[in-house]
Amino acid sequence: MNGARERNVRLAHDGDIPALRRLIDVSVRGLSRGFYTAEQIDAALQHVFGVDTQLIADGTYYVVEDGRDIAAAGGWSRRRTLFGGDQMKTVEDPMLDPPAEPARIRAFYVHPAYARQGLGRLLFRTCAAAARAAGFHDLTLVATLPGEPLYAALGFRVVERLVVDLPNGIELPGARMTRALGDEDARF
Ligand SMILES: CC(C)(COP(=O)(O)OP(=O)(O)OC[C@H]1O[C@@H](n2cnc3c(N)ncnc32)[C@H](O)[C@@H]1OP(=O)(O)O)[C@@H](O)C(=O)NCCC(=O)NCCS
Repeated sequence: MNGARERNVRLAHDGDIPALRRLIDVSVRGLSRGFYTAEQIDAALQHVFGVDTQLIADGTYYVVEDGRDIAAAGGWSRRRTLFGGDQMKTVEDPMLDPPAEPARIRAFYVHPAYARQGLGRLLFRTCAAAARAAGFHDLTLVATLPGEPLYAALGFRVVERLVVDLPNGIELPGARMTRALGDEDARF
């Protein structure tokens, strides 16, 4: 893969799901070191991180392509769920009420070969513009510890530190973060 090639952002579709599953696995394993233990990473991949197919169905999940490879993926949501793949869902995800409630930023995963090349920022700008166009005034998310520096750089602030309880007593720390959407976010 070559990080210098032209990057194309497009909406994800169902045919991307196998590649997205591989991306999530390699992204989390490669970019969580130093933030989470191997035990936390294995448990989180099994029970928390995964494709949320509702985002694909809603047309709010994007991939960044480099040639035929998916270099990164991420999205936003007009629904209540804050984090997690299909494996965390038991009921239909209710719609939010813009502008009274904040849109969600969801499931950003960058392939380690493309880390720190601005793809997280590119996906965020795409999502922020779409959420603004949909009538939302604020954004919220639950950040992983490796994700927190990205969102801090994008203007989010931590409003709550939380821990997700996983089986076998494993705990996954994260942070709830929020940010207002401004007129500048509409220009992308
Ligand atoms: C978090 C993640 C999506 C960031 O993606 P990325 O494409 O590397 O981020 P960008 O290159 O757009 O970074 C933009 C800015 O965010 C900050 N940033 C991003 N990652 C950082 C890190 N690991 N340490 C410190 N700052 C970081 C920097 O200010 C960076 O700007 P700079 O590179 O000019 O200094 C990526 O590390 C990832 O996929 N992690 C594993 C999966 C995960 O935990 N996702 C988050 C779910 S909430």
